Amino acid sequence: MAVYRHQQGRAIRVSDTILETEGLTKEFRGFVAVSDVTLKIRRGSIHGLIGPNGAGKTTCFNLLTKFLPPTRGSIRYDGRDITGMKPAEVARLGLVRSFQISAVFPHLSVLENVRVALQRQRGGSFDFWRSDSLLRQYDDRAMALLDDVGLTGYSALTAGELPYGRKRALEIATTLALDPTMLLLDEPTAGMAHEDVDRIVALVKRVSAGRTVLLVEHNLKVVSGLCDTITVLARGSVLAEGDYNSVARNPDVIAAYLGTEAHTVSEGVPVHG
Ligand SMILES: Nc1ncnc2c1ncn2[C@@H]1O[C@H](COP(=O)(O)OP(=O)(O)OP(=O)(O)O)[C@@H](O)[C@H]1O
Ligand SMILES: [Mg+2]
Repeated sequence: MAVYRHQQGRAIRVSDTILETEGLTKEFRGFVAVSDVTLKIRRGSIHGLIGPNGAGKTTCFNLLTKFLPPTRGSIRYDGRDITGMKPAEVARLGLVRSFQISAVFPHLSVLENVRVALQRQRGGSFDFWRSDSLLRQYDDRAMALLDDVGLTGYSALTAGELPYGRKRALEIATTLALDPTMLLLDEPTAGMAHEDVDRIVALVKRVSAGRTVLLVEHNLKVVSGLCDTITVLARGSVLAEGDYNSVARNPDVIAAYLGTEAHTVSEGVPVHG
């Protein structure tokens, strides 16, 4: 299927693959954390990256968003080789990872947190606390983003006072403020209670409209509910790839999970379907 991007009134045909790695490898002093990983992520999909603890998922994210330089291999995003780029450059191209909770300013209000993220996106300076009037122009957009993530009623609350699940929603709102084309989420439901998990699943579904999402997630119920395609990593290498049912039935995948952390399987839907 051809995919088009509209630019200056013209429709430009773009590749169906938005992100592609070849032979991506990361070694830490001789230890191979990510080994020869070749990934192809389809534009508009929700792609899951799963695997036992220590499989290399977060390291992959760090490589893709340029927080770590690869030892070997290449990364292409939206038709460009981004292997040598800096994190801010790839973020400007629309490849954005969700910020960690630690990046939420706990003493600012929920609304102010999103405002700051919006101002950053417009390339504003960091002396935001001195230019309150300038920030007000972002209020409407910030409120719309809070509405998107179900935080309208929390806008005046200090971010530090938000319950955990809502903090993750705020984190996603500040990420959306950067207007990502492709969003990388690392364990968005980690440590959450059931009702929060359901809310985050609905949220990821909603924000994935018109975007590509790469999702690292241990909760297999979340993975099966959200992901079109799943890549399974184990010990740094790609073990299997396909839709949920095919990877969940794959004997190598079952062995990798059972061998290292059987609890992950029991937390999600049964691997044997
Ligand atoms: N900066 C580093 N220096 C040395 N080793 C590292 C570094 N970062 C990660 N590792 C190692 O690389 C391996 C992969 O780690 P990574 O965090 O990518 O795994 P993960 O799949 O995200 O695991 P989890 O599911 O527990 O989050 C682990 O063995 C880890 O100890
Ligand atoms: Mg991790």
